[in-house]
Amino acid sequence: AALLSRVAKIEASGYEVIGWVDGDPGHGRAFRFKDPFEHVFEIYWETQRYHAPDVEKPALKNIAQRYHGRGAAPRRLDHLNLLAANVEEFRRFMETCLGSRVTEMIQLENGRIGGCWFTVNNKTYDLACTEEHGAGTGRFHHLTYATDQREDILRAADIFLENGVHIETGPHKHAIQGTFFLYIWEPAGNRIELANSGARLILAPDWEPVVWTESERKKGQAWGLKTIETFHTHGTPPVE
Ligand SMILES: [Fe+2]
Repeated sequence: AALLSRVAKIEASGYEVIGWVDGDPGHGRAFRFKDPFEHVFEIYWETQRYHAPDVEKPALKNIAQRYHGRGAAPRRLDHLNLLAANVEEFRRFMETCLGSRVTEMIQLENGRIGGCWFTVNNKTYDLACTEEHGAGTGRFHHLTYATDQREDILRAADIFLENGVHIETGPHKHAIQGTFFLYIWEPAGNRIELANSGARLILAPDWEPVVWTESERKKGQAWGLKTIETFHTHGTPPVE
C-alpha cells in the first residue's frame, strides 16, 4: 500500500515515468522514474533479507555477518551525491516524488542553489545534489561508505596508497554536515568517499534547513586543505 501510494504521487507529478520492472536480485517488483537530469530512480517494497551462511554467522544475532576487518572495512552505505544543472528543480523533484526534506543547502549570490542535502528519514542526509559544472547530464558525483571510527579512514588511506588507488583529497573535515572524509577514485573512475560521524539525527519535524552562503563556502572546508579543483569538475560518466 505504501509503495502504490508513493507511485500514485509520482505519476501525478508530471515527472517522467519509466514504469514497473520485475525486480533485481534481492528485491521484488520496482517502479522506475526519472528526474529532469536523466538520473533513473527506483523504489520497491518487498526485500529479501540477508541470512548469513554458517561460516559467516556472527557471535551476536543482531549483527548481519561476522566482522572481518579486511581492507577499508566500512560499516555501511551512507549517502550518494548526484550532479544536476538546476539544483532548485532537483529539490522540487525530491520533495514531490520522494517526500524528501532538505537539512542543509548552499545559497549562491546569483540566486541559484549550489547544493542541497536531502533525507527521507531521520538521518541528516542520504542523498546530496550539487550543481553540474561539466555540462554533462545524468552524472554521478560520489558514493559514500561510513566507517566505525575516524581512525579507520587513516588506515584506509594507507591501504589505498599501497594498492595504487588514486586519492583525490583528504582526509579533511567538511563544514557542511561536519563529516571527516577521504575521497578516492575507484579503478573505473567513480569517486568514492569514506566518511565518519555523518549520521547525526534530525528529530525535529519542523527542522529549518541550514543555509550556507557563498562567502561561507569560499572559506573552504571546516579544516584541512582547500578543495581540490577536480572535485568541482570530475563526475561520471566523463564529458569531453
Ligand atoms: Fe559526501
